Amino acid sequence: MAKIRLDKYLADMGLGTRTEVKKFIKKGQITVNDVIIRAPEYKTDTQTDRVCADGQPVSYAGVEYYMLNKPQGVVSATEDKREKTVLDLIVSKKRKDLFPVGRLDKDTEGLLLITNNGELAHQLLSPKKHVDKTYVTKLLHPLAPEDAARLEEGVDIGEPELTLPAKVKLLNTEGTEVQITIWEGKFHQVKRMFWAVGNQVVFLKRISMGSLALDKGLKPGEYRLLTQEEIMRLKEHAGTDKSSDF
Ligand code: URA
Repeated sequence: MAKIRLDKYLADMGLGTRTEVKKFIKKGQITVNDVIIRAPEYKTDTQTDRVCADGQPVSYAGVEYYMLNKPQGVVSATEDKREKTVLDLIVSKKRKDLFPVGRLDKDTEGLLLITNNGELAHQLLSPKKHVDKTYVTKLLHPLAPEDAARLEEGVDIGEPELTLPAKVKLLNTEGTEVQITIWEGKFHQVKRMFWAVGNQVVFLKRISMGSLALDKGLKPGEYRLLTQEEIMRLKEHAGTDKSSDF
């Protein structure tokens, strides 16, 4: 059972700032289980109490998880003065504290997890965890077999250490479409790895991260909530607390 103050409940769900929602409460606009509650500090059960604002139900979401197929041209940030952000695309979000788990470049497409579960994000991004990320790339030049072998051994991208061995699979006979799996997440890593073997990425799309695979039904710019099973498998993969998200 998770009980929180009524003003926090409403503010968490984006009905306004704490000051604004306190005014709604005091004016008698909020009911809990059909009873008008005028006390902002009223302890509300986020799972069982039925809260309404002006008669409209307001259900509570403690933690949200969205899978976004990030389109090109959008930045992986929570807010930006000039650019459209990935958070701007999640129009049905309830929580205000959502953030993208890691970054995809502005010109990269594909799987981006958006949540407010900080512990899960931390585990998925931790360099020590070596969570696998798979990308589909289109390259300027065909990938020579010896360059694929170098990527699979580790290449020098200007960091103190070589990259960890990647897994490379050709997706077309010319060798210009290549799937690559890496277990790290350095800045521009995939592009820098192909640069290191004298090639250039002209299109990049992430198709999986750990146990989470991009839903093929999502077009660029589309998103959906994760299923309970996807959430459990991700938490298992990352070794985070699997208790309830309320
Ligand atoms: N590697 C890159 O170079 N760019 C991305 O967006 C993700 C991985």
